[in-house]
Amino acid sequence: MVKIEAIVRKEKFADVCAVLERSGIGGMTVIPAHGFGHHRNGLKEKVKIEIYADEFQVDAIVEMVRNAAKTESSGDGKIAILNLENIYRIRTGEEGAAAI
Ligand SMILES: Nc1ncnc2c1ncn2[C@@H]1O[C@H](COP(=O)(O)OP(=O)(O)OP(=O)(O)O)[C@@H](O)[C@H]1O
Ligand SMILES: [Mg+2]
Repeated sequence: MVKIEAIVRKEKFADVCAVLERSGIGGMTVIPAHGFGHHRNGLKEKVKIEIYADEFQVDAIVEMVRNAAKTESSGDGKIAILNLENIYRIRTGEEGAAAI
């Protein structure tokens, strides 16, 4: 299991959200964010998206997010993949892949 963190332009968030809603992901969390990249031209408003997923879903999710989020100009954002130790579904106590 992994956590996929995507930081995208605020103006691109609606497009990213639309593709992810139609995809097979179990869910996602959206966090308003501010950040800078290499250009350090002040903090820009961004949106951070967090998705818990199975490893086999990663390539498809990365591709979907990139296609929806990219303008090919500087500042399009980042996607990070983090290994996850475990996940629990609070309601049932299920854990691991069953909790996604
Ligand atoms: N090293 C980093 N650590 C954490 N967040 C980052 C990092 N680099 C970029 N970000 C986040 O991603 C956002 C967009 O970054 P940006 O796309 O400008 O990265 P970049 O590496 O400068 O690439 P580009 O060449 O496309 O500008 C930043 O506003 C920030 O929120
Ligand atoms: Mg940049």
